[in-house]
Parts: sequence; structure tokens; C-alpha cells
Amino acid sequence: MTTNNLSSGTALVTGAARGIGLEIARQLGQDGYQVVMCDLLDDVYASADQLKGEGIVAHGMRMDVGDEGSIREGVKEIGERFGGVQVLVNNAGISPKHNGFKLPLVDTPLAEWELVMRVNLTGAFLLCRELLPALKQASCGRIVNIASVCARYASPIIAGPYNASKTGLITLSRVLAMELAGTAVTVNCVAPGRIVTPLSSQADPSIDREYIARVPVRRLGLPEDIANAVRFLVSADASGITGTVIDVNGGTFCN
Ligand SMILES: NC(=O)c1ccc[n+]([C@@H]2O[C@H](COP(=O)([O-])OP(=O)(O)OC[C@H]3O[C@@H](n4cnc5c(N)ncnc54)[C@H](O)[C@@H]3O)[C@@H](O)[C@H]2O)c1
Repeated sequence: MTTNNLSSGTALVTGAARGIGLEIARQLGQDGYQVVMCDLLDDVYASADQLKGEGIVAHGMRMDVGDEGSIREGVKEIGERFGGVQVLVNNAGISPKHNGFKLPLVDTPLAEWELVMRVNLTGAFLLCRELLPALKQASCGRIVNIASVCARYASPIIAGPYNASKTGLITLSRVLAMELAGTAVTVNCVAPGRIVTPLSSQADPSIDREYIARVPVRRLGLPEDIANAVRFLVSADASGITGTVIDVNGGTFCN
């Protein structure tokens, strides 16, 4: 995909050790960004080495987006080492499964609800808040939040806290986009359908089968499908787009 990229600067991608986040880091790196890849897993260092082997300027960093102290430390380190960021992609997310299935909302323990909210929603809020001064200094600051089809349309990928967190993430993005309207910072979401990643493989295979039977394109998505949309939103071509959601879901609408 060719985009009019802004490309000199630092892009921070959370949850970048694997799956969608790793592919987003790769594509932004290919566009010329220096990518800071954050993750809870130490695997993020090997993933950064993998991208370096592909000629990308990548740095692995351990950060728990569910922990305010870890976020503050990470942001401080990024400021000191890289002088701030131009692009923030809040991609880290969790969707707890029990023997391959979600729990019904009424059976969900408070601890699970709170963990999902902290990682999927509060982490994005804190990173936006902490990085906003740097993003405003950039000539074109970009925030892209990774939501989900489950916050958009009826979908077999549903779970109470997960859906609520992703719907909250879309609302957070809209509010921030309006607060920043008139600055050079845009805030948008990409809402993936079901994508082949380690996260989706935690679910019982019957969920993939049900999804494929319902999705118009009759296949699961790939991390590249999501990274392509992020790459566009980050580009100069998308300067007029803020507060919106790009659905990358194989044609799933009100089914
Ligand atoms: N795969 C799908 O079908 C699908 C569908 C819709 C939305 N999404 C969203 O896309 C994003 C990426 O999903 P994925 O499928 O690549 O998942 P994944 O589990 O394969 O990768 C997510 C990464 O986030 C990291 N992470 C988890 N908790 C973290 C924390 N507290 N701090 C820092 N990093 C943390 C994990 O270690 C992992 O490396 C998530 O927000 C997910 O909700 C995925």
C-alpha cells in the first residue's frame, strides 16, 4: 500500500510482541518511523530484533499498560531516549477465555472485569494523557486505538467486559478527537473483525467456524489487514480524518 507518509519520527505501538501489534510496528517501520515496541512480554525484545533484521529501526520495551507506574516510567524513558513520539498506537488488549469460551456477564468476577478495563481502556487513556504534550509538539501527531467489531455490530466475538472496554475506547477516541480538533493531532480507531493471531487462537475453534459462516467474505482477517488501515490513518493523506472508526471486518454490518 502506498501512502503519503509523515515518516520521520517515533511511533509507539503497545502490545507489539506479536499478532496485530507486531505487524503494525513492521509497517510503520517500513514507512520510516523509528518504532518503540512495548509489551508485557519479554518476547518483545526478540520481536524488535526480528524487525531490526528486516532493516527497521526498532526498540523493544517492557511496559504493562495495566499499570500506571509502568506507563509513567516508559513514557519518561521514551522522552529521554527518543525525545517524544509522533504516533501512538494503543493496540495492547486482552480477552480472557475459560476453556476457550467467555464467561457470561453475570458470572464474570469483578477482578476479571477490572483487569480487562485497566488493560484495554484505562491503559489507552493514560498513554494518551501522558503523551499528549509530545504529540502536540509534533507537526502531525497521530493516535490510533485498536477497538473491535464487537463494539460496532452483533458479532460472535462478544464478552461483557471486553465489549464494554472496546465500546469505551471508541467513545474515548471521539471525545479526545473533539478536544484536539484544531490542533494537528488526530485520534481515530480501527475496529478489526476476527483476525488470525495468538489472541484469537485462545478461543474454542467453534468460534472461528461460526464467525466464518457469518462474515460476508467467508474468511478470517490477517494482521496485515489491520496494519494497512493504521498506516493510512497515520499518513498525511488522513490529516482530515479524526474521531472516526475504520471497520476492517470483511463486510460485517448489521447481521
Ligand atoms: N485477533 C482478533 O481477532 C481481534 C479482533 C478484534 C480486536 N482485536 C484487538 O487487537 C489488539 C491486538 O490483538 P491480537 O489479536 O494481536 O492479540 P495478541 O494476544 O496476539 O497480542 C496482544 C499483545 O498485547 C500484549 N499485552 C497484553 N496485556 C498487556 C499489558 N497489560 N501491557 C502491555 N502489553 C500487553 C500481549 O502480551 C500481546 O503481545 C487487541 O486490542 C485486541 O483486542 C483483536
